[in-house]
Amino acid sequence: MASAPPPILTLSGITKSFPGVRALDGVDLEVLPGEVHCLLGQNGAGKSTLIKVVAGAHQPDTGEITWQGERVALSNPVSAMRLGISTIYQELDLVLHLSVAENVHLGHERATAGFVRRGEARTRTSELLARLGHPEIHPDTIVGDLSSAGQQIVSMARALSHDTRLIVMDEPSAVLDPDEVGNLFRIVENLTADNVAVVYISHRLEEIRRIGDRVTVLKDGRAVARGLPAKETATKDIVALMTGRDVEYSFPRRAAPFDSAADEPVLVAEALTRAGEFDPLDLEIRPGEIVGLAGLVGSGRSEILETLYGARTPTGGTVRVEGKRLRPGSVISAVRAGLGLAPEERKAQALFMLESVTRNVSISSLPRFSRGGWLDRSGERDAAHSNIKELSLRPDNPDAAIRTLSGGNQQKAVLARWLLRRCKVLLLDEPTRGVDVGARAELYTLIRRLADDGVAVLLVSSEIPEVLGLADRVLVLREGQVVHTAPARELDEHRVLDLVMEGSQA
Ligand SMILES: Nc1ncnc2c1ncn2[C@@H]1O[C@H](COP(=O)(O)OP(=O)(O)OP(=O)(O)O)[C@@H](O)[C@H]1O
Ligand SMILES: [Mg+2]
Repeated sequence: MASAPPPILTLSGITKSFPGVRALDGVDLEVLPGEVHCLLGQNGAGKSTLIKVVAGAHQPDTGEITWQGERVALSNPVSAMRLGISTIYQELDLVLHLSVAENVHLGHERATAGFVRRGEARTRTSELLARLGHPEIHPDTIVGDLSSAGQQIVSMARALSHDTRLIVMDEPSAVLDPDEVGNLFRIVENLTADNVAVVYISHRLEEIRRIGDRVTVLKDGRAVARGLPAKETATKDIVALMTGRDVEYSFPRRAAPFDSAADEPVLVAEALTRAGEFDPLDLEIRPGEIVGLAGLVGSGRSEILETLYGARTPTGGTVRVEGKRLRPGSVISAVRAGLGLAPEERKAQALFMLESVTRNVSISSLPRFSRGGWLDRSGERDAAHSNIKELSLRPDNPDAAIRTLSGGNQQKAVLARWLLRRCKVLLLDEPTRGVDVGARAELYTLIRRLADDGVAVLLVSSEIPEVLGLADRVLVLREGQVVHTAPARELDEHRVLDLVMEGSQA
């Protein structure tokens, strides 16, 4: 098009290798001012690596970067920021023990004589937070005390505190609930209206439809399609480009309808409470049953899972597994009884970042590999390997350091751990967060199979179709209270959303 504005950012022939992996293999990318350019690709395709090159956090091995018509070197994050490039990383990089205002102004040189005046920084932070639709976040709050959604808003405020022409967002919606995603999209629209360009990464194709202008698809470190129209390109074409195959979207069916009276419940919670977090909860799950917990972020979903697991001490009530009462607030007691938890914040809560994939997978099953006081390392490695194969974890290398894995693949490693452990009750908190469409289908099949083998599953997900598609029974949670319980087949997405948001019926 003759009238198209010149690109604000052009990458050409970018390559980047890590030991043993060519993460980027000659990638071209062109971003126009004021557009939302979406980057799609499976876990490990190279999306985060590419945006780290744009952010100046990684140096490409070869290739050229052109910014507003001029060839540039982005030798560090500060130089990218100075040009007007801000990045919101997949794993947020805030300093948890500093305040909101301090985080927002970190790395700013707007300060006279080397320091930012505190009052000024706080006022400005408040303004930014208000602009982002979150005036309730106080500039003096310690960032570590905020929810992941809140932390992301802070990250966004930091991006906007600079004179930004391009904002890169790596899976920003993964930690948000539907309400907050709406808010995020309003922010994006305001930015693009000001001619700011946005590079947007997400595994949720419906989001790409809603806010995307153009799409670049990465596969194995190469751009396999560039500049596709985001709204018009058929989903099956995009998925085929990403995965190189057609992916079935349907949820795996259970062989026979679940017979709720067939077995004794394996997990029974009676009046389980954490004052201020959730109201007394009665819950029974039978072997082979999948129970879904639907509710907004902050409705108490994760707190319930963590309390069942003993990571939080209940203020009242009991948990029994196969009739045996668990010691309140004891993870050891829970794990011994056969509980497993795949938590929401994998990096902070679940992964040992300095260890290998094998050790991260086997850590909860080490007694199984103990041979008279020695660790059967090859047994450990083989078992871990077969589990990561089952989840198509990339790279297919049990010795890789977990920190070098892409976000979605780290998530799979957490799940692999509990598959190996063979628990009786599996607590899954957002199991598909950050997991690509292809792997998602595999994960659903796997969860289904575990249940068919008799594992009881309690599933928390912000994606309502996922809860409805997998669960036999759904509990809808609002502000720490179960407001509705029903078989999944009696609910649909709108009904759940209604219940979750306003609770038209108690
Ligand atoms: N620091 C590193 N050292 C070694 N390998 C790395 C490093 N960072 C990334 N990789 C590898 O590069 C490849 C691309 O990873 P990247 O994080 O860019 O994927 P992604 O597309 O963002 O995936 P996801 O959707 O899971 O976030 C992966 O194979 C990953 O294991
Ligand atoms: Mg990534």
